[in-house]
Amino acid sequence: MDEVQQGILDRVHSEVRERMSAQGAGHGWDHVERVWRNAKEIAAEVGGEGFIIDLAALLHDLGDAKFYDGVERSGEFAREMLARFDASQAVIDHVAHIVDNISFRKRETAEPLSPEGKVVQDADRLDALGAIGIVRTIEYGASFDQPFYDPSRLAAKTGIGHFHEKLFHLKELMNTVAGRRLAEEREQFMRQFLAQFEKECGE
Ligand code: ADP
Ligand code: NI
Repeated sequence: MDEVQQGILDRVHSEVRERMSAQGAGHGWDHVERVWRNAKEIAAEVGGEGFIIDLAALLHDLGDAKFYDGVERSGEFAREMLARFDASQAVIDHVAHIVDNISFRKRETAEPLSPEGKVVQDADRLDALGAIGIVRTIEYGASFDQPFYDPSRLAAKTGIGHFHEKLFHLKELMNTVAGRRLAEEREQFMRQFLAQFEKECGE
């Protein structure tokens, strides 16, 4: 990465951190930092242009629909910020394309990702798995008054249900060899946790 690129990355880093920290603790920036770290780990093994991967990881959830009346604005915000920091049009287009096409919700309609996009998508999915995935599932459920576990089997949705419905399918969706290996590791840990949890509950 050259000096100009490093300058753009530093500015994007500090602006994203500032804007997302304002959304409240545990919501956003901590996820972005982990995704960024995961992306670097995967890229170290499978390659890809670091500058693009770093920018896309940092910008991928900046306009999360949760905070913008159900409208996903991450791609738009990424374009706006990168243009303001004088990134080249090619960089703006590439990063915005990744940001617009990595989300799980858009899976049916998403356009094929570049190699850099595949790294960032795997990095994002990894953060839904493992110890952090367990915590995020519990936090998400709690914020909607959904139980993690329902011995009466009356709740329409549970955290454990989410593990089976979504999270245990992520491994198969991984794009990269490194991503799949890390996903496998994290899924194993979640299955071990569930086995212990169910044992303690007399299941
Ligand atoms: P992201 O911020 O990566 O786009 P989401 O906003 O979809 O992900 O979800 C945030 C976290 O909440 C993830 O860890 C996800 O697995 C979890 N989550 C999403 N939907 C549910 C659900 N119905 N029940 C429990 N956890 C969920
Ligand atoms: Ni994300």
